[in-house]
Amino acid sequence: MEKLRIMSVFGTRPEAIKMAPLVKELAARRDIESICCVTAQHRQMLDSVLEVFRLTPDRDLDIMTPSQTLSTITAKCLTGMDGAIDEMKPDMILVHGDTSTTFAGALSAFYHKVPVGHVEAGLRTYDKYSPYPEEMNRKLVTAIADLYFCPTENNRQNLLREGVTEGLFVTGNTVIDALQTTVRPDFVFTTDILNRLPYGSKKVLLVTCHRRENYGQPMENIMSALAEIARTHGDVELVYPVHLSPVVQACARRNLDGMDNVHLIDPLGADEMHNLMARCHLVLTDSGGLQEEAPALGKPVLVLRRETERPEAVEAGTVKLAGVERGDIVDMAHTLLTDPAAYQAMAHAVNPYGDGQACRRIADAILWHFGRGEKPEDFRA
Ligand code: UD1
Ligand code: UDP
Repeated sequence: MEKLRIMSVFGTRPEAIKMAPLVKELAARRDIESICCVTAQHRQMLDSVLEVFRLTPDRDLDIMTPSQTLSTITAKCLTGMDGAIDEMKPDMILVHGDTSTTFAGALSAFYHKVPVGHVEAGLRTYDKYSPYPEEMNRKLVTAIADLYFCPTENNRQNLLREGVTEGLFVTGNTVIDALQTTVRPDFVFTTDILNRLPYGSKKVLLVTCHRRENYGQPMENIMSALAEIARTHGDVELVYPVHLSPVVQACARRNLDGMDNVHLIDPLGADEMHNLMARCHLVLTDSGGLQEEAPALGKPVLVLRRETERPEAVEAGTVKLAGVERGDIVDMAHTLLTDPAAYQAMAHAVNPYGDGQACRRIADAILWHFGRGEKPEDFRA
């Protein structure tokens, strides 16, 4: 029997971190030829992940430009994907999550009548402008996809409520598979400042912030709250690997440059980021991926957004929504930094997002779909 040609398409840092273990799992299956096509919606931040996970793409569309718009990303992905699909002739295309690459990859697959598997399916906020444009990307991909790999039962329920009843699997999130390969107690950082941080004697706060819906006043509020937290808490070292978006870079530097206990550093390799998270005291972030990773490592998270499509860890008590108002963020951080009981109540490891077996389940589900294996069992938290 001929091998199934399964083409994974991704372009940004988080997609790459979450798809890398899956591309490898697929390659390890006898019945599958695993093809990797990157759009390079992110260039440096994608290449960093490819290097950490030692992955060489079969096709690289190299679309990134500085300050790119949603339209140019989508248009370039679509035209680039035409050639990749014509040449590789995949039996199925896998896309991940909710970026512009995800949407354009799925739409392009549809134009070529290639079935689509959606990894990380079923996340919802039910507000089309928040996260923007991700909530709409997810919904559009739901309409196109044939197989839905839901990280959690809650995500599956979201799709059922929308009338999607076929092709659903609860797999866990592949990010937990990735995390299990990177975190090590003896890890040595290549970013030297991270080896020298006083993890034992001071509170290391790990910060990231990049979301488009936070551009403008919300991001100014967040950065100014971070400055206030660093200024008023002498026992804190704030580490912020700043996203390469020019908007984010400018806002971070405007508010946080020149403070002794604030470290604005370049984006970290995924292995460095995961090990820093494992050692830090508290995470403040608007990232989706960090909301999934930090609970698995027992680190409390304050989410710098008004809503989240990841309610599981909020329900488990390790993640709290801090919003985007300066006073709220300062107050919530202050409580966690000064009240040991409040901190301990949030600092326990939970794994609502996966057990490290998501890639195995997804590969099994794909083989089952093509009549070549058993249906996988669902992930249960
Ligand atoms: C994108 C995704 C977002 C995801 C985020 C992860 C969309 C619309 N948004 O947002 O869902 O959460 O990635 O980080 O798909 N840049 C570089 N080098 C890089 C990466 C980015 O210079 O390696 C700069 C470029 O100027 C680029 C800008 O950042 O134009 C913005 O990148 P873009 O992919 O458009 O948006 P993100 O905010 O990264
Ligand atoms: N990450 C990283 N280096 C950094 C910041 C984040 O490797 O400097 C990782 C992080 O651990 C997570 C992913 O990138 O796995 C999240 O990406 P991001 O926050 O850019 O996007 P989101 O998850 O919000 O879509």
